Amino acid sequence: MEGGIPTLEDLEQQLDGLAGERILVRTDFNVPLDGETITDDFRIRAALPTINWLTDRGAQVVTASHLGRPKGKPTPEFSMEPVRRRLAELAPGVELRENLRFDPAEEANDDAFVKQLIEGIDGYVNDAFGASHRAHASIVGPPRYLPSAMGRLLQREVEVLQSLRDNPKRPFVAVLGGAKVSDKLGVIEALLDTVDALVIGGAMCFTFFAADGRSIGDSLFEPDQTDTCKRLLASGKEIHLPSDIVGLDAAGNVATWGARVPDGGKGLDIGPGSAAEFADVITEARTVFWNGPMGKFEDERFAAGTRTIAEAVAATKAFTVVGGGDSAAALAEFGLDDDVDHVSTGGGASLELLELGDLPGLAALRQGRNTP
Ligand code: 3PG
Ligand code: MG
Repeated sequence: MEGGIPTLEDLEQQLDGLAGERILVRTDFNVPLDGETITDDFRIRAALPTINWLTDRGAQVVTASHLGRPKGKPTPEFSMEPVRRRLAELAPGVELRENLRFDPAEEANDDAFVKQLIEGIDGYVNDAFGASHRAHASIVGPPRYLPSAMGRLLQREVEVLQSLRDNPKRPFVAVLGGAKVSDKLGVIEALLDTVDALVIGGAMCFTFFAADGRSIGDSLFEPDQTDTCKRLLASGKEIHLPSDIVGLDAAGNVATWGARVPDGGKGLDIGPGSAAEFADVITEARTVFWNGPMGKFEDERFAAGTRTIAEAVAATKAFTVVGGGDSAAALAEFGLDDDVDHVSTGGGASLELLELGDLPGLAALRQGRNTP
């Protein structure tokens, strides 16, 4: 039991050994695809410790996942087949069901669908950290009926992210980027209570610029969020905004500006001065959480800010945690993913766990049939 949630060992005990038991493992195999090619198999590899632990004990493992957002209809482009092929290489003999979201009952958390999922199954393991913020049938349903447990990946994710909430070594710095403030508002507010400093880059910095009365040219921003950003800036917390910006000027040429973007200009990355300042803040921290790129890093002209931050996060002696999604992809692209302490497999899930301290998938396991 950990945080009131049964572990794999608890499940083994309850089933009186796992030999011959059919165990349904909900994984997050929602991997990036280019046609039928998996461009990053991190989420598949991350589920192997749990799968191997179970098969080593003689269990028959049946995995199930969603892939993409097929909206309740069988859709060939979201077929699990490419994942099935990769899984067969990494964990031969492990079954993988078809995309759970081919049936609208999955997202509707339909009870009849849950019963169908667990037919012939003896125990359930949730190892789908990246999907555990979704109250979907395969995440919250099975623990109502079956002995259930969290897998190793889910356990590690929860341990690491809860430690950031509960007892981070200080100074604790959160570095946030990405396009939209609105996606991250909840977590920004929650983090402001625990962090010593917040560093803001990515397109969302322009909403803060606007709130601060700085010109932003044609940069992306969310006008309906400026009041909230004003309030955050007035909170008295240490918030670092970029002091220079790289982007495209009105003529379409790459330009570097100070902390204001001129008319017709569009900011697409933090500038070199800001990147160096942010890297210093990261270097002085003892705990770092990073989520969201500093700019449009897929375009080499606007990758430098994100690269400098990734290098600083990789080089520091601090305890470093990178929230999934784009920042994890950036780290992998720069070949630095082995140099941080924890790369989360969940984007939305890691932010929601940091914000709320719990997830629907965790609550379901805590209230499950085999929890005292
Ligand atoms: C993710 O990729 O963040 C998870 O797999 C959840 O996917 P979703 O946002 O489509 O629910
Ligand atoms: Mg048994």
